[in-house]
Amino acid sequence: MKGIILAGGAGSRLYPLTLVASKQLQPVYDKPMVYYPLTTLIEGGVREFCLISTPHDLPRFRQLLGDGSRFGVTFDYREQAKPEGIAQAFRLADTFIGSDPVTLILGDNIFWGGDAFQRAFSEFTGGATIFGYHVHDPERYGVVEFDATGKAISIEEKPQKPKSSFAVPGLYIYDNSIVQIARDLKPSARGELEITDVNVEYLRRGTLRVCKLARGFAWLDAGTSSSLHDASAYVQTIEQRQGIKVGCPEEAAFRRGFLSLDQLAQVSAAMPRCEYRAYLEEVVAEARRG
Ligand code: G1P
Repeated sequence: MKGIILAGGAGSRLYPLTLVASKQLQPVYDKPMVYYPLTTLIEGGVREFCLISTPHDLPRFRQLLGDGSRFGVTFDYREQAKPEGIAQAFRLADTFIGSDPVTLILGDNIFWGGDAFQRAFSEFTGGATIFGYHVHDPERYGVVEFDATGKAISIEEKPQKPKSSFAVPGLYIYDNSIVQIARDLKPSARGELEITDVNVEYLRRGTLRVCKLARGFAWLDAGTSSSLHDASAYVQTIEQRQGIKVGCPEEAAFRRGFLSLDQLAQVSAAMPRCEYRAYLEEVVAEARRG
């Protein structure tokens, strides 16, 4: 399974924070925002990544993530010169995808709790898997409607009158037919290649699976100054209470077997003395104690 992290957009709602660093590079408590979706995909077993961003921001992401070896993964990069919709990512990354299945995660989506994604990745056999999450403001999102038996029957992008309270979060898993579906897409009224149109196509083909995310699962938004602050506070609360880190890709890579214990120790030793390094050293020490 290949993985795409889409980190484009102007981040205009966070101006002037985004004048020099894109939204997905902003701190969410103690690490850059993009570490959270990266960790989510590593936990799902994804090892080959392509990060897509604007020509302006791409050099910063390269600086931050490099070739991926620090996380036991590989990174390719692609430019999105113009923001023409989430589904454009599959056109930009078609040579990266090749003949594999692919998952796409939005670089500003922060998830925490449970193993729903890990299960969805390991159970994936074809078609598409997306998720439904209960929110109080579904009109801001793609909205999925279910019938009485729990089967998805419609998906609409930012409907004025939502047919349910279930929003579709920014993590999508597709088989290789996504490449052709993305090629055939037509821009929507707002001029974008809509991810919702992709999902509607899988629904039409009868190969769409929608998993409802349980209560207790957190999907955080970090697109405005106050939601960014709230996301930071949430992460801080969990980390201080539990003494574990949320969104730590090095740790996730170790737990997934992408980095050996010795490699994790080396990666930590190369960091400056800081709280993040001390945390990873503790992970190493704990694993050595067994
Ligand atoms: C996009 C998608 C929408 C999805 C949302 C998740 O919205 O178009 O279907 O529910 O991401 O974050 P946008 O970020 O463009 O508002």
